[in-house]
Amino acid sequence: MKPVEIAKGIYSVGVIDWNIRDFHGYSTEKGSSYNAFLIVDEKVILIDTVKKGHEDQLLDHISQIIDPKKIDMVISNHTEMDHTGGLPRIMHAIGEQKPIYCSKMGLKNLSQHFKQQWNYHAVENGEELNIGSRNLSFIETRMLHWPDSMFTYVKEDQILFSSDAFGQHYAGYEMFDDVVGPTIMSHAKKYFANILMLYAPKILKLIEHVSEIGLEIKMICPDHGIFWRKDPGKIIEAYVQWSNQIAGKKAVVIYDTMWHSTEKMAKAIADGISQEGVFARPIHIRSSHRSDIITEVLDAKAIVVGSPTLNNGIFPTVSDTLTYMKGLKPRNKIGAAFGSYGWSGESIKLVRAELEAMKFEIIEPDLRVKYVPDDADIEASVAFGRKIGQAVNKGR
Ligand code: FEO
Repeated sequence: MKPVEIAKGIYSVGVIDWNIRDFHGYSTEKGSSYNAFLIVDEKVILIDTVKKGHEDQLLDHISQIIDPKKIDMVISNHTEMDHTGGLPRIMHAIGEQKPIYCSKMGLKNLSQHFKQQWNYHAVENGEELNIGSRNLSFIETRMLHWPDSMFTYVKEDQILFSSDAFGQHYAGYEMFDDVVGPTIMSHAKKYFANILMLYAPKILKLIEHVSEIGLEIKMICPDHGIFWRKDPGKIIEAYVQWSNQIAGKKAVVIYDTMWHSTEKMAKAIADGISQEGVFARPIHIRSSHRSDIITEVLDAKAIVVGSPTLNNGIFPTVSDTLTYMKGLKPRNKIGAAFGSYGWSGESIKLVRAELEAMKFEIIEPDLRVKYVPDDADIEASVAFGRKIGQAVNKGR
């Protein structure tokens, strides 16, 4: 693959990881990319590197433009290993004493992680750096999504190198929003739901800050996926909407089942919700990846969770989903718990407690069915669903 000149003298030199399907527990059905950027000015700058194992390709891409030894400095926007795994090889290739610009937390994290005496230069928030005909500035984006994260902005080209923010796990030769088309938004949404949802309040503050300092943005280049050049405002607006967690008239009925009884209830509940004109989907946990489930949770108003009782507790896959969901801190949701059971049925109240811990508004009472649901139980499940649908419609 050839490096792509995204603006005069600015190149995308990263690599596409076509075959990755599991990114630390996130299902990446379209693969991913580790984007890195080369700015050739009076000074030659490399922004970020790639995951370990992909360094040869990165060096090959750089060499197609310039001798890697001519790189004057590396900017590390983020310490996570998908962007720094290639750093040791790159530093060896360009010269171990070349400076690495990073945030203050980046300095701490990089030095702790690599235990190398590299020539770190910690930048202040808003600090500027002249590289010849261009001025770079650095914007601290602490906890978006790591303490070390920062953006690099090129004033003259109005390009924002945004690290993980605005990214998508997507592998493709079509590298820009106008080339790939609107399908990319589902990948951006999944990325937000799984990586950034818990930092939603910080994202809103950051977007406000970027607007206050009057940053003109012509292109946003994240470290994964495509670049937003036709309409960078579109992904910013989507981030505002997702961060505000403005739900649609939508409910998800997430469940697992041992002998199809909880499943029968789930389908009847989803049917009842749908009868109230609310978009509803039953989601069987073992047929769906948790990263896809959480993507559906992002814009759903009601999160209805069903579990059979196993050994006096929640069914393990349901616990897994709830633990993952709790960590990502979805907000402004209605919650409800249900399940079938054989003996004592503890799982249902335990599921409710998990939903309460996430500060969901709970529809009570929980729906419990002993053994296999009969016609009356199915009717009760539909009625339960209708009650949830009505609550969604009221925006409760
Ligand atoms: Fe793409 Fe947080 O690393």
